[in-house]
Amino acid sequence: MDAIRVRGGRALKGDVKISGAKNAALPILCATLLADGPSLLRNVPALRDIDTTAALLRFLGCDVVINKETSEVRVAGTRLTRIEAPYELVKQMRASVLVLGPLLARHGKAKVSLPGGCAIGARPVDQHLKGLEAMGAKIRLERGYVIAEAPTGRLKGADFMFDMPTVGGTENIMMAAALAKGRTTLWNCAREPEIEELAKILNKMGARIDGAGTDVMHIDGVEQLAPFDHAIIADRIEAGTYMCAAAAVDGSDVRLSGVVLEDLEALVLKLRQAGVTVEREGEFVRVRRDGPIKPVNVTTAPHPGFPTDMQAQFLVVMTRAKGESVMTETIFENRFMHVPELLRMGAHIEIRGRSAIVQGVDTLEGASVMATDLRASASLVIAGLYSQGETEVRRVYHLDRGYEHMEQKLSALGADCERVKGAEG
Ligand code: UD1
Repeated sequence: MDAIRVRGGRALKGDVKISGAKNAALPILCATLLADGPSLLRNVPALRDIDTTAALLRFLGCDVVINKETSEVRVAGTRLTRIEAPYELVKQMRASVLVLGPLLARHGKAKVSLPGGCAIGARPVDQHLKGLEAMGAKIRLERGYVIAEAPTGRLKGADFMFDMPTVGGTENIMMAAALAKGRTTLWNCAREPEIEELAKILNKMGARIDGAGTDVMHIDGVEQLAPFDHAIIADRIEAGTYMCAAAAVDGSDVRLSGVVLEDLEALVLKLRQAGVTVEREGEFVRVRRDGPIKPVNVTTAPHPGFPTDMQAQFLVVMTRAKGESVMTETIFENRFMHVPELLRMGAHIEIRGRSAIVQGVDTLEGASVMATDLRASASLVIAGLYSQGETEVRRVYHLDRGYEHMEQKLSALGADCERVKGAEG
């Protein structure tokens, strides 16, 4: 298994280009199932989760061509041979469950493995299923699979309120409703920019979706949808990760390109409160740290709140503050797995319920560390960037799920960082 080796202490300086958004690309790839004929996605990041989604679409019978040089993916789903998402693929990537809505809407039937527990908590899909049931689907669970059918062959528009804002749940129901008969109104929708991006594509395909980006959406079902050509928005979480890296390492001065700053408001406010300079500079966003980090308190929340996907990386910034900071995680119940590894590097962090109480330290010490999820892995790389000595972050396959060429991008910013092939797991 590969590892990332980082020798700490070098300020990050220079420009970095932010890749296309993984969490926008995944539902959009699934949306290709809603139309006949080939769709073209541009600015798709070269990531393991994209390969897993491509494998799933191919399993269903789609023709998928990935061009990593041009960051383009072509998908043609004219003749599906299966309507099933098998456990082997769903367990690798929970977002595979996003084929449920499109398959059911277009083919009247779908069989999708339940994702099971995952490293950052139970993460049920009950809201996806309740939403589809409200639209007339008959759903049963059989041997770990969800088997869903639209009795008349077509889902019906419905009024549905989510119990909590769920990103995947909102996306699944939006895609299903786009082809349902009649009007669907969804309340308490997730408002993440990736939802707006999906709505934009569905509307390009001929759907009639109104209100994406707010908590109430109206969707008037149409008879059929057409293929599309679309360039994916930049990855706000990748951008936020490089911002936290610049914030964590003394003397850094980094410019990010391709970032939509408005989508990162909560993070930017907290970085500024911590004493980091974040400013727009033409088409770039410049992040500088020339003074000490001040302690700040952060609570994760659905968008436009502070993203749970930035919690681990920001926690590492907190370890540099002069004083005590508190990070409270409200979205996932088990998302502090980076903390024991940071303790091994010399951080002072105490977990109390859903909060991590962080006392800043002057420096950390490099160590061999291991992360069990994507964003936790990124946080350990950031910690390595300012630690004394060498840090080896193992099980890099987590990082490869969501960060395109991270070690290359960091090296280009001046970090002493490399991939070690076949390191110990
Ligand atoms: C998406 C993101 C993930 C991010 C998360 C929260 C993708 C591919 N992944 O995940 O990176 O961390 O949003 O911003 O976009 N819940 C239920 N029942 C459901 C669905 C969700 O109880 O049916 C709960 C979850 O356990 C969690 C909360 O709702 O506590 C939010 O989860 P959700 O927004 O659905 O996360 P994902 O879509 O899985």
